[in-house]
Amino acid sequence: MYQIKVKFEQVGRSPVVLHQVAASQSLLDICLDNGIELQHKCGASCACSTCHLYVVTGMAFLSGITSREEDFIERAENPRPESRLGCQCTLLPGTGELEIMVPDQQQFVQEEEGILL
Ligand code: FES
Repeated sequence: MYQIKVKFEQVGRSPVVLHQVAASQSLLDICLDNGIELQHKCGASCACSTCHLYVVTGMAFLSGITSREEDFIERAENPRPESRLGCQCTLLPGTGELEIMVPDQQQFVQEEEGILL
């Protein structure tokens, strides 16, 4: 079981801590199951970059990154060394603590509404 602290780039949004998170789930599914909005426009098939997030600590507890995931991370907004696609990284069997940062999801709402950033 894992504990995951979820922080948000969205201004004013407080972090949440998820307890007793079972392994073998993707970070996308964990977020969605806990009411945390994370875009996933391609339906978790590694064909977009809207589920992009940052793994601040605990990268070793996640499945490895593929070259395809790396390709799509490069297309995300503000990719960093700690970037992952939420739908592509799953918790490995084990126990530990992670901290992730969810990018501001408002950017996608504004894109859908046709607002130029
Ligand atoms: S939902 Fe599209 S790559 Fe994750």
